[in-house]
Amino acid sequence: MTESEEIRNNNGSVVTTDIEVRCCNTDALRDQLESTIKEWAIRDNWPAGYDSIKFSTLIDPEANFVGLLNKEIVSMVSAVNYGDQLSFIGTFLTADGHKGKGYGTQLFRECLQHAGDRVTGLYSNQRMTEWYKRHGFVQTGTCSIFRKPYTGKVDLPADFPVACIIPAKDLDFADLCRFDRSYFPADRPEFLRAWLSHPKVILAPAFVKDGVIHGYGVLRQCIGDTICKFGPLFADSFVVAEQLALAMLNAVPEGTEIVQFDCLDDNPQTDRLAEKVGFSPTGELHGGRVLWKNGRPEFDVSGVYAYTSGAFG
Ligand SMILES: CC(C)(COP(=O)(O)OP(=O)(O)OC[C@H]1O[C@@H](n2cnc3c(N)ncnc32)[C@H](O)[C@@H]1OP(=O)(O)O)[C@@H](O)C(=O)NCCC(=O)NCCS
Repeated sequence: MTESEEIRNNNGSVVTTDIEVRCCNTDALRDQLESTIKEWAIRDNWPAGYDSIKFSTLIDPEANFVGLLNKEIVSMVSAVNYGDQLSFIGTFLTADGHKGKGYGTQLFRECLQHAGDRVTGLYSNQRMTEWYKRHGFVQTGTCSIFRKPYTGKVDLPADFPVACIIPAKDLDFADLCRFDRSYFPADRPEFLRAWLSHPKVILAPAFVKDGVIHGYGVLRQCIGDTICKFGPLFADSFVVAEQLALAMLNAVPEGTEIVQFDCLDDNPQTDRLAEKVGFSPTGELHGGRVLWKNGRPEFDVSGVYAYTSGAFG
């Protein structure tokens, strides 16, 4: 469908858009979107996850929307529906040179329609927060990004509980899914399965004692391989979170420049973890906002030490 419609921006000005708005429901379009994300992420040094479109498609084949101009993607947004309860919006971007023309508004409306009346979340930067509020979102909290430069392997303490840390892929998969569900507001087995075997996942350790899962984490490279992120890092105590963070830090590959994790400030222990393992809040990246629409989801934020956003990045 080629759109040519008038849109009134929130600042009151009227813009005419001329993009073709498409849901990426074909492999060709998904591949084109994946390559565009890769290109923009490398150009702007943006820590996007590899294969995020492939991952989101496993959960919701109609999650991703693009605006095409002369067959080129100039704008994108995702709303990943997890069943009929939850949706998460992310990867909202318009190419430089095309911002402010109403493309984003047009795509955002499309993805809100896709999310329907599901409880719908997003993480916003400071600039966009008021704009999302005008689309019915309510701020419920804040989120932070912590980074540290890679300086080589970390020293593990002498009492590091080596025997308790095993590969998450060796766990009973149903147990892992149950554990994950306590700290993420929806079931996501397809995603977990694909993720644990992804070639860019460096380490996915779980902390198990007496047959009980107490935590798990995933360390993976971002597009370009200069940034390594851990997330999720879910744990039922601070000590377990710290041990898993150390295990992952110890596995960061040579050649990495920055290690990063993103967290929800509703868990005050994340600041403590950052300090203990040597991370600092990132200047201008710091200070994200958590916004929800149609209610708030149920999950135990006290065990969320690092998240992967609903957009998988
Ligand atoms: C946010 C973004 C996706 C919107 O897409 P767009 O095609 O510019 O959207 P629109 O033209 O419909 O403008 C929507 C809002 O985007 C913001 N925006 C517009 N031009 C912008 C620009 N040059 N830079 C940053 N934000 C801009 C404005 O707040 C605008 O709100 P308004 O309607 O009150 O003016 C796009 O500006 C962008 O890629 N920004 C950088 C990445 C980003 O911030 N993503 C959102 C993360 S929460």
